[in-house]
Amino acid sequence: MTSANTPEHAATPESPRDAARGNDDEALKATAPTSGRAAEDLRYYRTEPVSFVRRGSRLQGRRLRAWERYASDYLIEVPRDIADTSVSGQATFDQLTTFGRRAPLTVEVGSGLGEAIVAQAAAHPERDFLAVEVYTPGLAQLMLRAGKQGLTNVRVIQANAPEVFEHLLAPGSVDEVWVFFPDPWHKSRHHKRRLVKPSFARHVATALRAGGTWRLATDWAEYAEHMRDVLDPDEAFENVHGGWAPRFDGRVQTSFESKAIAAGREIFDLTYRRL
Ligand SMILES: C[S@@+](CC[C@H](N)C(=O)[O-])C[C@H]1O[C@@H](n2cnc3c(N)ncnc32)[C@H](O)[C@@H]1O
Repeated sequence: MTSANTPEHAATPESPRDAARGNDDEALKATAPTSGRAAEDLRYYRTEPVSFVRRGSRLQGRRLRAWERYASDYLIEVPRDIADTSVSGQATFDQLTTFGRRAPLTVEVGSGLGEAIVAQAAAHPERDFLAVEVYTPGLAQLMLRAGKQGLTNVRVIQANAPEVFEHLLAPGSVDEVWVFFPDPWHKSRHHKRRLVKPSFARHVATALRAGGTWRLATDWAEYAEHMRDVLDPDEAFENVHGGWAPRFDGRVQTSFESKAIAAGREIFDLTYRRL
């Protein structure tokens, strides 16, 4: 949540190693190994810069209690590569085993505090929902919301989303993908960190079933244009509205969006269909 200037969301890498995992340019130069297994393991992060910076992940109070109480119900543990937000190439995910049924699956990337996905999981018990987020307090808050309502159709994975798509989600297995208010990385030297780019579009195109939907929203006009520059010409997708989409009914106003509106920023929605 780069542009949410609360202390909780401030970018404060926990250690040089965490910063390297988050691919902070300077930290990488200073700390990244240049040889041996560690260098080998960090290669992914050099060729595909991650779209987040690790923030304080220490849990306290009700979020700590929520994690202890609900992680066994909601958190999907995945085998890692070296970084603690990575996903091993050996990892597997089976929706039938996880949810005990086959139902249309929505995947939210960067679920933040979980407002949108928990509201939709409660409203649509006939669907399954998977939140992919790296931010520990956000995941704790999401599990607290879901746990209070006794939801059984939502799960969370704490991992770098492109790796979840690459290694965990079977081709054609997802009905909807949501990317709401991805970190804008507004400085041009940081644009390479943006989540929405051609390589991520390939992952989403593979995971979505034919006819499946990719919904996006941003409060950053230039990122909104960038999303269209990436996705409008992509032959795997059709821009459902031929331009900006109306607000998706199921996208509840999150605290993040409220701050953007209070700051006077316009909100842009986009909807694409997998062809
Ligand atoms: C600006 S916040 C928006 C959160 C939420 N969607 C909302 O609308 O309130 C972006 C979120 O995406 C998460 N994020 C960024 N890159 C990610 C990645 N590669 N994998 C998983 N989560 C990511 C961040 O940790 C952050 O919580």
